[in-house]
Amino acid sequence: MSKVKLANLEDISIGDMKQISLKNYNYLIANIDGQIFIVDDLCTHEDAELTMGCLKGKTVKCPLHGSYFDLVTGEALNEPADEPIKVHHPIIENGQIYINVKEDVV
Ligand code: FES
Repeated sequence: MSKVKLANLEDISIGDMKQISLKNYNYLIANIDGQIFIVDDLCTHEDAELTMGCLKGKTVKCPLHGSYFDLVTGEALNEPADEPIKVHHPIIENGQIYINVKEDVV
């Protein structure tokens, strides 16, 4: 595993989310009341980028068919999506946001 930087903490405003791309992976970084959440930016139902949807509490709503995903657990909270999205553990150091990724992603 390698630790890679995704963003500066100050670039993700409270109540906002942003897509960050790393090689072929797109990550959604959300700042909910100062707490950072990182998930894969791809709905598990069809190919929709969740950053095109909207945040509600600690959930994100898919822009295509409206499934909500829990940003803490990744769980799909309503149909049509029924598979969870992948959740990544954020590492915050010196105002920077990192995640651990497999070597082949770096
Ligand atoms: S593509 Fe996300 S709910 Fe259908």
